[in-house]
Order: sequence, then structure tokens, then C-alpha cells
Amino acid sequence: MALAATVILIFATSAALGAVTLLTLIPTIALIAFFAGKLQPQWRKVHDLHGAMTTVIQENIAGVRVVKAFAKESAEVEKFRDRKDVFLGTLLGTVNYWAARVPFAQFIFGLALPLVLWTGGRQVIRGPLAIGDLAKVVFYLMAIGHRVGMVGQFTNIIQNASASGERILEIIREPQIIKSGQLDLPDVTLATTPLTPPGSESAEPAARGSSAPSEGSETGQGPLNRLGRVQFDHVSFNYYDGKASLTDVSFEANPGQTIAIVGATGSGKTTLVNLVPRFYDVSGGRVLVDGADVRELKLRQLRRSVSVIFQETFLFSASVAENIAYGRPDAPRKEIEECASAAQAHEFIMELEDGYDTLVGERGVTLSGGQKQRIAIARAFLMNPRILILDDATASVDSRTERLIQEAMRRLSVGRTAFIIAHRFSTVQHADQILVLKEGRIVERGRHDELIALGGVYGEIFEQQFSR
Ligand SMILES: Nc1ncnc2c1ncn2[C@@H]1O[C@H](COP(=O)(O)OP(=O)(O)OP(=O)(O)O)[C@@H](O)[C@H]1O
Ligand SMILES: [Mg+2]
Repeated sequence: MALAATVILIFATSAALGAVTLLTLIPTIALIAFFAGKLQPQWRKVHDLHGAMTTVIQENIAGVRVVKAFAKESAEVEKFRDRKDVFLGTLLGTVNYWAARVPFAQFIFGLALPLVLWTGGRQVIRGPLAIGDLAKVVFYLMAIGHRVGMVGQFTNIIQNASASGERILEIIREPQIIKSGQLDLPDVTLATTPLTPPGSESAEPAARGSSAPSEGSETGQGPLNRLGRVQFDHVSFNYYDGKASLTDVSFEANPGQTIAIVGATGSGKTTLVNLVPRFYDVSGGRVLVDGADVRELKLRQLRRSVSVIFQETFLFSASVAENIAYGRPDAPRKEIEECASAAQAHEFIMELEDGYDTLVGERGVTLSGGQKQRIAIARAFLMNPRILILDDATASVDSRTERLIQEAMRRLSVGRTAFIIAHRFSTVQHADQILVLKEGRIVERGRHDELIALGGVYGEIFEQQFSR
């Protein structure tokens, strides 16, 4: 704008001098625009290479034990050096590209001043131009020159920023695959202990607070028992096109039942349970919770009514109490301690230096796998879910801890529908239904005795465990 206005002012003073100005200004701007167009993809490449370089650092920090255990330090240093060299080379190339070309474009405009002095000077000598007008034009030119200089400088910064922005936008614009449905969880009104009062999501924690967790751990015949039916209706699932991770899985879990899922590693156990809280959506068939397709339910309600205890428990850098109350930060301390007791965690928590206020996670004490798992169970207790999922880590705990965890799980699963992925028969034996998975299909189902009598895949796994 200001640039155009200044040019108009020059034209108003002298058409000839205006023409000279335009003659130099247009090629300069055209060249800068041309170079800038080439620059953006260059910066994009620089940022990609920077990402590749920092990935090496990030992986090396996260996986430092693996690197050390395999004595790969020098190879990792070499890998970083290679990526750094490529990055630095491209960065310097980009900067040089700009540094070598833009001054050239600016030089063309630089010619304007001598040309104007020459043409204007002759006009002043001959008479048609006043010397004051020539001085005016010279000042105008200097104003334009200042702007052209800035354009050169800022275009580089802008192209750099726009390349970064593009990378950020790519993530922001990534389509959201799992979209929340519209339905409230069915049957909620039937329960005297409302899990999720319809239409009052904010009141939900308070309404639940009073009932958790003692109610669920009584007889299991309470009203809670009517909720938590899970049905898989010819469910198939594959992570990518091609190989299926689940094929035609159908079963029904009645409210309050405990369903054990067994099978070799990679048989699809984790995949199956991940479909209940909709961490993924089915590729074929339907998953129903209390009669409603999970895709039609409000995602928040669904996820709040399903508690998952993952294979690897993640604890935040916060106190033990805050970690337990993660799903309900406003839970009173008394309730947190009750849940911890039910989860068999109270005892070891009290032995920590600051009890429930002990910091855990990255900045605090490191807990063992079994301890973390019990904290995760306490976390689930506090949420008082109608469906419970335990993806048990390959029993790496000692037998006393194992018994504690089993007892905690038994208490937690009373009155709820529980899915337990277990690797030990002591855990599986009392399940109402055992699903045996093989390569993503249910190959056998039934109770422990029935399956043993059948003498199939389950019997085989059972034999192996006892012959060890
Ligand atoms: N995030 C993922 N992306 C792609 N494929 C996956 C993913 N997770 C699992 N798979 C594949 O899906 C299949 C089933 O895996 P899943 O994790 O469900 O097995 P699992 O029975 O839980 O095994 P484990 O006992 O070792 O935990 C495997 O073939 C696995 O390679
Ligand atoms: Mg698994």
C-alpha cells in the first residue's frame, strides 16, 4: 500500500522519473516473489530433517537402557551425526540460496537512484524540473528502498514460519476418526445408583461419589448388576488394510459376569477389549453395551463407564493420591484411601515416605510393576465403572503380589462386567466364561472344567503351564 502510494507520489512529481522507478521496482519485486516461492519447500525440508534429527535424540533418551545393554552407543552417536550433517547441510543451503539471490534483486532496485539522478539531473539543468522536486523524488526512493530491504528480510522469516505452520496444521487437520454419538447410556435410570444421570454430565462425579466403592463390593446382587451387558456381534477388526486382527467374533457378557480371555501372544486379546471403550472402531459387525451400539453412545459417558487397567500402567508425575484420583480429581481423601485399601495398595502406600502425598512418576519414587498395577486398580475403583477391563501384564510379579492383585480384582469385579486377560490359570479358573482366541478367532468357549474336558487348545495351554 505504502509502496504504491509512494510510487504515485513520484509519478505526480515527474512522469519520467516515475517510469524509471517502476522499471527497476517491478523486476525486483517479481524476482523476490519468485525466489520466495522456491524457498518455502526448502524450509519444509529443513523442518522435516530437523524432526528426523530430534527423533534420534528422543529415542535415545527414552531407550537409553536398551542402547547401553547392547553397547550401541557409538552407533547411535554415528546415526545422530549423520542426521545432523544432512540437516545442517540443507539448512545452510537454504540460507545461502536466499542470501545469494535476494541482494541481486535488491541491486536492480538500487539502480533506480543513479538513473533518477542522471535523468532528473539533466531535466533540472534543462529547466523543466525544479531541483526541489528532484530532491523529493530522491527521498521517496529512499523510502521505497527501505521497504524493499524489509521485504527481503521478512520474506525469509515468513516462508520459514509458514513451513512450520504447515507441519502443525497437518496434525490439526488430521480427521478425527472416533466421533462421539448422541445417545445417553441406556438403562441408567433403572439403577438406584445412577452411574451417569442422563443429561447431567457435570453432576455425575458427585452422584457417584457417595456410592463408590463399597456398594460394588458387597454381594454383587445389587442394582448395578443389571447394567454392563456387552455383546460382540460378528465383529471383525484390522488395524490396516490387509491382515485381520479379529475375525467374526461373537459373544455375550451378561451384567456382572467375569469373562476371561486367553490365547497366545498376538492372538488379539488386547485388540478385542480395546473395542469396548472405542479406542478403535470395528471394521465389521457391532459392539453393544447395554443394548446400544457403542458408536451411537456419547463417548464421554461410554468411556467413564468402562475402566481399563492397561498392560503397562502409566503413572503421572504427581502424588499417589492424585494418581488414584485421576478420573475424579475432586474425590475426598477418605474415599481415595478406601479405594486403595480395596485395591490392596493401602499397606505399601503407607510405607512410602510421605504416604499418599509421595510423588511418583518421573520426578518421584519408582514403583514396581505390581505396585503400579494396584494403583491402577484403585483408580478404577474410584470411577465405579459398570464395565471393567484388566489387561494383565505377563505375570511378572511374585506370588504374594499376585494373590493381592487377584484379591483386589475379585473385589473390584463384583457387581460389574469384567474382562480379564490373564496368563495364569489361577486367575481364569473362576471366570463365568472363558474365550480362547487363536489368530483373532474364538476357537473355544466355556467354563474352565468344560474346556479342560474338551481337551482342545485350552487344555493344551493348561498342560503346558503345569508341566513347567
Ligand atoms: N497398534 C497396532 N497397529 C497394528 N497392528 C497391531 C497393533 N496392535 C496389535 N496389532 C496386531 O494385531 C494382532 C493382535 O494383537 P494384540 O495386541 O491384540 O495381541 P494380544 O493377544 O493382546 O497379545 P499379547 O498377549 O502379547 O498382549 C497382532 O498380530 C499384532 O501384531
Ligand atoms: Mg495384549
